[in-house]
Amino acid sequence: MTDPAPARLVVLVSGSGSNLQALLDATADPAYGAQVVAVGADRDGIAGLDRAKAAGVPTFVDSVKAYETRDDWDAALASHVAEHKPDLVVSAGFLKLVGPAFLAAFGDRYINTHNALLPAFPGIHGPRDALAYGVKIAGATLFFVDAGVDTGPIIAQVAVPVLDDDTEETLTERIKVAERAQLVDYVGRLVREGWTIQDRKVRIP
Ligand code: GRF
Repeated sequence: MTDPAPARLVVLVSGSGSNLQALLDATADPAYGAQVVAVGADRDGIAGLDRAKAAGVPTFVDSVKAYETRDDWDAALASHVAEHKPDLVVSAGFLKLVGPAFLAAFGDRYINTHNALLPAFPGIHGPRDALAYGVKIAGATLFFVDAGVDTGPIIAQVAVPVLDDDTEETLTERIKVAERAQLVDYVGRLVREGWTIQDRKVRIP
């Protein structure tokens, strides 16, 4: 029997793209079962786009400012992602909330990695907020995106300790190491094994 075609991943980024790089590295092994077919961004000039280009992966940029309304941007982003026929869309440090058009097209297969243990510390300052609160355990959450801010069904979580002398930078970096491994592990499992979601519970058979 021939192996099935690798699953098609579109990855969305806004920054350094270290999570994207972890996925690009993992997909080099055919047994991983997926390939990154395109990388999209909401801004130019970021390392994430350079990483995609270095790997020979097509890129596109949809900046909110380039569109008259947020809905126009959302529809354009959805249509650019759709051109690449993704099986899974991965937000990996993508700093924009998508809207109704995008969720109508990809809400059943759009996942995001967040650098906090949800439902604690949603939003863009997860590690900073965790540190300020004084928690002893922080981490990362992989989840299916819904219309809320970091509220969708949780796929996986990984914990790391918060140390007494942590700064926002040291904690962020410790989380990112665990977060990248989790992302690679679970994206692979999702595309190879499939999943179900019932009453918010995500199950990978
Ligand atoms: C990740 O820690 C993600 O949780 C947060 O931004 C970071 C992105 O890092 N939203 P990178 O661009 O993948 O290096």
